Amino acid sequence: MAISLNTRLTQLLGCRYPIIQTAMGWVADPKLVAATGNAGGFGFLAGATIEPQQMEAAIIETRRLTDQPFGVNFHMYQANAGEIVELVLRHKVRAVSYSRSPGKQMISRLKDAGVVCIPTVGALKHAQKAVEMGADAVTVQGGEGGGHTGSVPTSMLLDQVVNAVSVPVVAAGGFKDGRGLVSALAYGAEGIAMGTRFLMCADSPVPQATLARYLAVKDPAAIIISRAIDGMPQRMIRNELLNQLENSGGLKRLLLALQSGLAYRRHTGMSLTQLLGSALKMRGAGELTAAQSIMAANAPMVIQKAMVDGQPAAGVLPAGQIAASIDSLPSCAQLIEQIVRDAEVRLGELCRRVS
Ligand SMILES: Cc1cc2nc3c(=O)[nH]c(=O)nc-3n(C[C@H](O)[C@H](O)[C@H](O)COP(=O)(O)O)c2cc1C
Repeated sequence: MAISLNTRLTQLLGCRYPIIQTAMGWVADPKLVAATGNAGGFGFLAGATIEPQQMEAAIIETRRLTDQPFGVNFHMYQANAGEIVELVLRHKVRAVSYSRSPGKQMISRLKDAGVVCIPTVGALKHAQKAVEMGADAVTVQGGEGGGHTGSVPTSMLLDQVVNAVSVPVVAAGGFKDGRGLVSALAYGAEGIAMGTRFLMCADSPVPQATLARYLAVKDPAAIIISRAIDGMPQRMIRNELLNQLENSGGLKRLLLALQSGLAYRRHTGMSLTQLLGSALKMRGAGELTAAQSIMAANAPMVIQKAMVDGQPAAGVLPAGQIAASIDSLPSCAQLIEQIVRDAEVRLGELCRRVS
């Protein structure tokens, strides 16, 4: 019996396999995205941490490295979200991903231009809302996933969402191999999206010292959810910085927040008013303290310390719990080939058992 991994997702995105490399701040760069595309997957550039003046160059560089389609991620709080959308339209980028909706109007502009809109959500009601706003597919990220995350486990969220929406659903949070892909398909998802597994690969730009820290984690319970960075639940590896923040009082946190806020401002070219505006928007969206709001606006800068500067003790180490069961750094090509081969073998075995 011929096994096919074609799904509505591969058709929407124009890729060979239903495997997405998600956007990860400082990590999902043109090299990683192109390597994923060349291997038959679909990658998203991390638009939230690429400097505005570098974003166009990043799109062009990705095109130079691959003739396969790819996407761009952004979040509506960033000051240059509108500029990114314009670049996506101008360069006919295949897809966008985002976690907070950029609004119905912006989504219909993107869709009218043929850009596939795939938000990431962590709760059933957000999936329903996203579809109502016009999403072409939704990625559901369960609580075991890396970075900002919800509290519902992937299996439960998938079950709820596939029953509630008619657009293709992509499963994220806790995937690394062919078994995971087959189980997601069995749930009714049309593909998987992985962050941590792609971060821990040879094409990832993350410095060796930081990757060593990821490889060293063997206990999923050491990859915790904390609100200490920006007030929002974020899953990361417990390290020195996190311990320091969790044990600091309000004033100390405010000082730490201001320090990295100023560095973020220098990096992004944001004016002080834009930084504060961004912090205020976030404050309005939740119950954040002043320190948390500023940290929320400049959190990418704290991540940079680990992801770019190679200082795993001084920066944030966003990771899914799956990091605890990853002990190798394959290339994207090896990784995707292995996942596909495993999935085909397992699907074949299941079919034989049934027949
Ligand atoms: C280092 C890191 C950085 C991330 N940065 C972003 C980001 O900038 N934007 C975003 O939408 N999601 C971000 N995420 C979440 C991922 O896109 C993805 O949804 C998540 O990693 C999936 O779970 P997994 O790690 O178990 O595969 C990040 C995750 C990690 C591990």
